[in-house]
Amino acid sequence: MIQKTYFMVKPEFANNEKLVEAVQKRVADAGLEIEFSSYVKYDEETASEHYAEHKGKGFYPELLNYITSDKAFGMIVSGEDAIATIRALAGPTKNAPAGTIRGDFGIGDVTKNVVHSSDSPESAEREIAIFKKAVEKSK
Ligand code: GTP
Ligand code: MG
Repeated sequence: MIQKTYFMVKPEFANNEKLVEAVQKRVADAGLEIEFSSYVKYDEETASEHYAEHKGKGFYPELLNYITSDKAFGMIVSGEDAIATIRALAGPTKNAPAGTIRGDFGIGDVTKNVVHSSDSPESAEREIAIFKKAVEKSK
């Protein structure tokens, strides 16, 4: 099924041009298309919308603080099974193996785990809308 998903290089990693290029190359090599991409600075409002499902969890304050700390690089990606394909490229949240983006570019930190990707069509639609709002607010 052709799907759209939201894929984001998190702050600090987004400042590394080579890393951002390598991530984009992995997306292209997986046969997916980056329809739109932009550097984006999430503020308190857009970040709390993006991470609404994690509100109240122990790691939430650190996550919000981190995601609003500097610019990220967001991508709207489309193609066959885009959601699962991008999740596989990213790797698991913790202890990601070599060969995945988190495994290859990570620093062993769960909060700063290099990338975010949508986990369902509903999340993708919601997160893409929030990304667009954050891009507008970043201008
Ligand atoms: P995302 O693509 O970022 O959504 O990753 P995910 O779907 O693999 O993880 P999840 O949605 O469960 O958590 C979102 C983000 O919260 C993760 O990417 C981590 O940065 C952070 N996170 C999740 N669980 C923990 C945890 O136990 N400790 C800490 N410090 N951060 C966590
Ligand atoms: Mg998630």
